[in-house]
Amino acid sequence: MGYAEVYQRSLVDPEAFWAEAAQHIDWSKPWDKVLGSDDGGGAQWFVGAEGNTCWNALDRHVAAGRGAQIALIFDSPITGTKRTYTYAELTDHVARVAGMLASFGVTKGDRVLIYMPVIPEAVMCMLACARIGAIHSVVFGGFAGPELAARIKDATPKLLVAASCGLEPTRTVPYMPEVEAALDLAPGIVEACIVFQRPQAEATLKPGRDHDWNDCMARAVAAPCAAVGSNDPLYILYTSGTTGAPKGIVRPSGGHMVALLWAIRNVYNAQPGEVFWACSDIGWAVGHSFAVYGPLLNGNTTVFFEGKPIGTPDAGAFWRMIAEYKVSTFFVAPTAVRAIKREDPDGVLLKRHDLAHLKAFFVAGERCDPPTAQWLESMFPCPIVDHWWQTESGWPMASNPLGLERFPIKHGSVTKPVPGWDIQALDGDGYQVAAGETGAIVAKLPLPPGAATTLWNAPQRYTDAYLTRYPGHYLTGDAGFIDADGYLSVMTRTDDVINVAGHRLATGAIEEVVAAYPAIAECAVVGLNDELKGQVPLGLLVLKAGVTHPQAQVIADVVQHVRACMGAVVAFKTAVVVARLPKTRSGKVLRGTIAKIANGEAYAQPATIEDPAALSEVAAALSAAGIAPR
Ligand code: COA
Ligand code: AMP
Repeated sequence: MGYAEVYQRSLVDPEAFWAEAAQHIDWSKPWDKVLGSDDGGGAQWFVGAEGNTCWNALDRHVAAGRGAQIALIFDSPITGTKRTYTYAELTDHVARVAGMLASFGVTKGDRVLIYMPVIPEAVMCMLACARIGAIHSVVFGGFAGPELAARIKDATPKLLVAASCGLEPTRTVPYMPEVEAALDLAPGIVEACIVFQRPQAEATLKPGRDHDWNDCMARAVAAPCAAVGSNDPLYILYTSGTTGAPKGIVRPSGGHMVALLWAIRNVYNAQPGEVFWACSDIGWAVGHSFAVYGPLLNGNTTVFFEGKPIGTPDAGAFWRMIAEYKVSTFFVAPTAVRAIKREDPDGVLLKRHDLAHLKAFFVAGERCDPPTAQWLESMFPCPIVDHWWQTESGWPMASNPLGLERFPIKHGSVTKPVPGWDIQALDGDGYQVAAGETGAIVAKLPLPPGAATTLWNAPQRYTDAYLTRYPGHYLTGDAGFIDADGYLSVMTRTDDVINVAGHRLATGAIEEVVAAYPAIAECAVVGLNDELKGQVPLGLLVLKAGVTHPQAQVIADVVQHVRACMGAVVAFKTAVVVARLPKTRSGKVLRGTIAKIANGEAYAQPATIEDPAALSEVAAALSAAGIAPR
């Protein structure tokens, strides 16, 4: 069956479509109803069904004779480590990690916060939570203590599992000082910490609170898989909203299994037994869906890489991995490709490796600029697929669906909406725009299985953020167009979210942190185009009256403050001091216009501007700082 027919079936009769897909999952209790709804009207899939994600990702493959196949490859060029785990070995480890968590009193529905780098123990911990029905919340290691604290306050985890450190190419990042800072800011919630000691920087454990992973594991007894309700949360993953408070995306257990298994076969065309490598940290949605759960649900071998596209040791690291492990499907953010292309434009390192096993090269996380796509096409004979999704969706919303049909590629487009996703571009009044015209990209309800239909502790915020602007539709926050052939191009965000090296950040959240610095009266943060990272944050700082420190010193201090409060990954390194911010007469900062000036784009002076001179002052300050063209 071709794409068009499958797509139509998924929209015309979603219940029949997804009920059929759900047959490929083991359920311990069948559903009473394929599709229901929650109090807010959000889709609830497979109502009444019970199953277990860990069972479907591990145990059932062992039971079916896949026990000797490698489930997980870990390769760390930073430490010179290579390890593999078969499905049987990973199942045994995970069952014991689950027993370890249970020995701390963690039961179904309890939250466990995981603050670890990309190491096998982190993956085991995620799967162990799934096994006992606990809800994991992984926090990316590049976030600092106060960000960790915000997540602890919201998720209220009983247990925190951390590694003693993460490893960046040029430095060791101790994690426990960030944990200490977080627990000071969010006291009385976490009952215990389990710490996985890495020899590169062992942590000093606090007696009574901290427990050594290896000691606990030595005592741990394997735990069985619990029956988990289809709409019980599997995990909470925090992502940027428009304010400082991160949004806790809640992933429903049952629909997630069904959707990922369907997608890995029909979008990625991955066959069981093949090696599937989504190169992403487990702190992001890609890491959750297509480094951990998707490939394991499908019986693939998944790959974890503790390294970077360049510098570990060189721009050939990915190609060495693909050749060495005979990777069939590779997935990475375009920013990583840009970094490699910059260092090895002619692909000298690439051509040293046998990459014949690679069937497809997927990119997502940000728009893939046509030069990057063209460079990949000149290097690889396999399809280069730009596809689009977000933390909320949990799986692709638009792609070239290689498992169904392979469409000709149009650069700058993410090809077609994936079955299950009724994607439309709407104008301000809620009407579909004409082919080729830009509109707000929405998905018509009901959302398919796996998509988040609520936010942890904040169902109303979900409704307000996603469902209110266009009733009956989910607002993606992206804008773009659908052309006459049905190809979707995702061009930009419609809110104050920026994309830094494939990471989604809210400028509002950075502004809150900058504004809290004592010397700052007010500030604006906008996205500055960056050749490597896509965008980086740019700060405009208005100093308090009486601040006499040199401006360069204040900027350096604010940069350090943001790094300490939010983490290095925010990459806030550029700021200028201005006398005032350009605003509308009602006091709204003209961020869009500031961004245009900073990026050297044409801009019109908004009719609502309070004082036009403020815009010229900003343009002059940016120009003097060498940011905007003169
Ligand atoms: N723990 C602690 N610090 C971290 C970290 C982690 N897990 N990950 C990144 N950082 C730090 C980096 O060391 C860097 O610090 P610095 O300011 O001292 O140099 C900072 O955060 C920014 O990191 P990064 O975004 O990785 O930038 P980079 O300049 O080191 O590398 C790229 C640039 C393009 C190579 C890199 O961004 C990359 O590989 N991106 C891929 C992104 C990706 O996979 N996204 C997945 C989403 S689909
Ligand atoms: P995140 O939730 O961090 O995965 O970020 C999701 C956002 O990244 C989307 O809403 C888009 O703005 C952007 N994005 C992801 N993939 C693409 C893509 N292929 N093309 C354009 N934008 C993308």
